[in-house]
Order: sequence, then C-alpha cells, then structure tokens
Amino acid sequence: MKLIKLASITKKLAVGALAAFLLIFLPFHMGMNMCILRQDGGEWYRNVCHFMGTNYIVKVFEIILLLCIVFHIIITVALAIENRMARPVRYAVAQKSKTHTGSKWMIYTGAIIFVFLVIHFVDFYFAKIGWVEGKYVAKVEKIDKAFQKKAQALQQGQMDEKQMQELQKQYMAIQSIPAEKRTEDFKYFVNLTKQDIKTYCGEDFEDYEPDFFNMARDKFHDPLYVLIYTLAFIVLAIHLYHGVVSVFQTYGLINEKYAKAIHYLALIYAIVVPLGFAMVPIHVILLF
Ligand code: HEM
Repeated sequence: MKLIKLASITKKLAVGALAAFLLIFLPFHMGMNMCILRQDGGEWYRNVCHFMGTNYIVKVFEIILLLCIVFHIIITVALAIENRMARPVRYAVAQKSKTHTGSKWMIYTGAIIFVFLVIHFVDFYFAKIGWVEGKYVAKVEKIDKAFQKKAQALQQGQMDEKQMQELQKQYMAIQSIPAEKRTEDFKYFVNLTKQDIKTYCGEDFEDYEPDFFNMARDKFHDPLYVLIYTLAFIVLAIHLYHGVVSVFQTYGLINEKYAKAIHYLALIYAIVVPLGFAMVPIHVILLF
C-alpha cells in the first residue's frame, strides 16, 4: 500500500532535493550563530538577526525552508512506513550492508532531530512569531523619535492628564534603566520583557525585535539545555553523514572513482557543522 501516491523513486528524488536544501541552510545558520562567540556585547549577532528578520528575500527563504522541513519529514516517514509494510516479515539474518545499516538509523536520528526542532522552535522561533514571550531589543534612536513626537504633542496641548503622566513615567524609567537592559554605547535597549517595552519605550511602541543574543545566553546558562543541545548535535552529526552520502547516491553521483571522496566530504561536513553549532552553548556556559 502507498501512503503517498507517487513512485518510490519520485519520492526518493524529492527527499534528496529537500535534503540538499536543508544541507545548504545548516552552514548558513551555523555561521550566523557563531557571531554570538564574538566578545562584542552581541552587536554582530544583533545586526545579523535584524537583517534576517527584516529582509524580504530572507523571509521568502524562511517559508521555503519551513516547507522543506515539513515535506522532508512527511515523505521520509511515508517511505519508511511503506518499506516496512512491503516487508512484513523481518529478515531472519541481519543485513551486513553499510548502506542498509545507515538508512535504518535515519528514521530514528531524524525523529530525535524532530524533537530537538520542536524544543528549538519553542525556545526561539515561537518568540519571533509571538506564540511565546521572549526577550526583545529596541533601538534607542527609534524610542527617542517616538518620545519626541509625544513631547511635541504635549507642547501643543494635545495630551490628556493620563498620557502626560505616562510620558513622565517613561522619562523617569529611562533615566534609571539598569545596565543589563541597555548596551554600553546606549544605542540599544536589550533583554526587555513585554512589560519593559511598555515601561521604557511607551505603551504603544511596536518597533522592537526579538533579542536572540540574550535569549541564547539565558538558555545556555542552564546546563540541562546545553546537554540537550549537545546531544542533539551528536545525533545531527550521524544523520548528516548518511544524509550527505544519500543525496549523492539518490542522484546517481557516486561512482567508484568518487565514492571515497564523497564519503570524506560527508564526514567533514558531519563533523564541522554540528561542532560549529555546539561551540555556541559550550562557549556561553563556560565563558559568558
Ligand atoms: C547553538 C545552536 C543554535 C542556535 C543558537 C540557534 C538559534 C536560532 C535562532 C535564534 C532562530 C530564530 C532566527 C530567526 O527566525 O530569525 C533559529 C531558527 C531556526 N533554527 Fe536554529 N539555532 C541553533 C541550532 C539549530 C540546528 C542544529 C538546527 C537544525 C537541525 C536549527 C534549525 C533552525 C530552523 C529550521 C529555524 C527556523 C528558520 C529560521 O528562522 O531561520 N537550529 N535558530
């Protein structure tokens, strides 16, 4: 029985193409995260996140990426179930083929990565789309502009008593903002809760973004999170090694001449990318 009414080879080609896209995304994401390692108070990472969060081309890529993840999961799970249903009696003698052993593990390592992704999305992505509360950052220049506009309205007598009191409260709060809620150069207010935004930026201020730098720092000060993330990266390494080889195999790009080189390439990729990711939580818990 077929869960998805396409030929197996079509499904495998689709999985290969989706996987290739995900394999390209990961080094980008790793490089972006490694900006956290710079001892610059989060300036680089804040700028990269701002670019990623506001650029329209990136937004389109983000939708494509999320669709790739969803279809990658749906098709691979369907293929695994179909394979199992087509072979109801398990082999009496375990197969010794390397490829078979590797692909057998893909569904399990994939399932663990899926659980990791759920935790990861709750940690970061859901704060961006507003499903959970995170920490936020706002440019002082923009807060100042909004403040000046209100001060002008006050001068022109266009404010009621309540609005005047709010403005005064905001002014007082900004004067005594704690050091951990602003950058040293006073260009950004950071580490803000939604309540802080009302207090320091004004009730109706909306020009703020997620503060992923401080969110990552908060998360990775917790040894449990560091352990979960590090274990996930080890599983990711196993998944990626077989994933890279698989993509080449699916598209018939492995022949005797290049097989060794492709296996080395897969090995390097599967070590470098998860290691780059792992450096972030390990660096934060040890050095920040
Ligand atoms: C130290 C490790 C990691 C950190 C600090 C991190 C951080 C983040 C942050 C801050 C976001 C939200 C960015 C935004 O939407 O603008 C994000 C999104 C995302 N992350 Fe990670 N990430 C890590 C590892 C991973 C790994 C290993 C994977 C995949 C297996 C992954 C997959 C994703 C995906 C698919 C998204 C949503 C798409 C996007 O917004 O770019 N992340 N991550």
